[in-house]
Amino acid sequence: MVSAGYYVLGTEGLALLRTWLDAGGDQLERRVDRLARVAGAPSEAPMSIRFEVPRLNVEAGYARWSATYDAAPNPLIRVEEPVVRAMIDQCPPGVALDAACGTGRHAAYLRSRGHRVTGIDATAEMLEKARTRVPDADFRIGKLEALPLETGSVDVAVCALALTHSREIGAAIAELARVLRPGGRLVLSDFHPTMVLLGGSGFFVGADGVAGNVETFHHPHGRYIEAFRRAGLDVVGCVEPAIEEEDLNALSGGLVTFDEAAFRSAWVGIPVALVWELERAA
Ligand SMILES: C[S@@+](CC[C@H](N)C(=O)[O-])C[C@H]1O[C@@H](n2cnc3c(N)ncnc32)[C@H](O)[C@@H]1O
Repeated sequence: MVSAGYYVLGTEGLALLRTWLDAGGDQLERRVDRLARVAGAPSEAPMSIRFEVPRLNVEAGYARWSATYDAAPNPLIRVEEPVVRAMIDQCPPGVALDAACGTGRHAAYLRSRGHRVTGIDATAEMLEKARTRVPDADFRIGKLEALPLETGSVDVAVCALALTHSREIGAAIAELARVLRPGGRLVLSDFHPTMVLLGGSGFFVGADGVAGNVETFHHPHGRYIEAFRRAGLDVVGCVEPAIEEEDLNALSGGLVTFDEAAFRSAWVGIPVALVWELERAA
């Protein structure tokens, strides 16, 4: 059983940490008072808001999350999408892969840019949504670590917000490189490692109102770079969009109202997405 109060207290603490040398003493003391008041009131909100959050693997988690995935505002998607689209826009129409396509968000954009699109995902329920959203793409069940595609058959691949769910990323990155033709492009986005270190995870609320957490792993930049080097992928660019003020309500699931100033100090400016633009070496 977790408490929404833990998240608010963690945010107060993070706000304190990020400002302890720069904010005035009064502001810091008010924050400490606030922290003590929240922690000392277990029968009041937010401490009294308690719920179960089962940890789930990819297939079990996204089978449930598929019902609400496209409905809930998601700050990670809000900041990631324009960056990924700008990278896709650099690629002329060709054969495109949306790997771990989910409900077909990037597959739809690739199709609208004139690509022939194959989408692959491990979760049947996510693929069902993708088939409705992009009827003229080819969607197949499959794993990133064993893509059901010919070697060198893809001009542009997108793999978005999925690798953080893998304990190890080298095998998936090698597979993405294998299916690309020499000179082909890979746009790889992920949940930012800083967010994972700060407790970010695949938290969701299903259609039944029950929460879940798809297991999420921390991969520092060096681990991606080593996997790219081994797979023969050259880094063309790397963009790390951050949380903005307008994301705070969605990011906190509405908890921002408990202390807007603390949420602003804690979270605004923290990078939430990591987006790599890569090229398969010729
Ligand atoms: C956060 S969703 C992202 C979906 C889509 N790429 C997007 O950005 O909207 C993560 C998706 O990755 C899929 N996934 C995660 N790990 C995978 C793996 N190893 N192989 C295939 N699919 C995977 C999940 O089933 C889920 O649909």
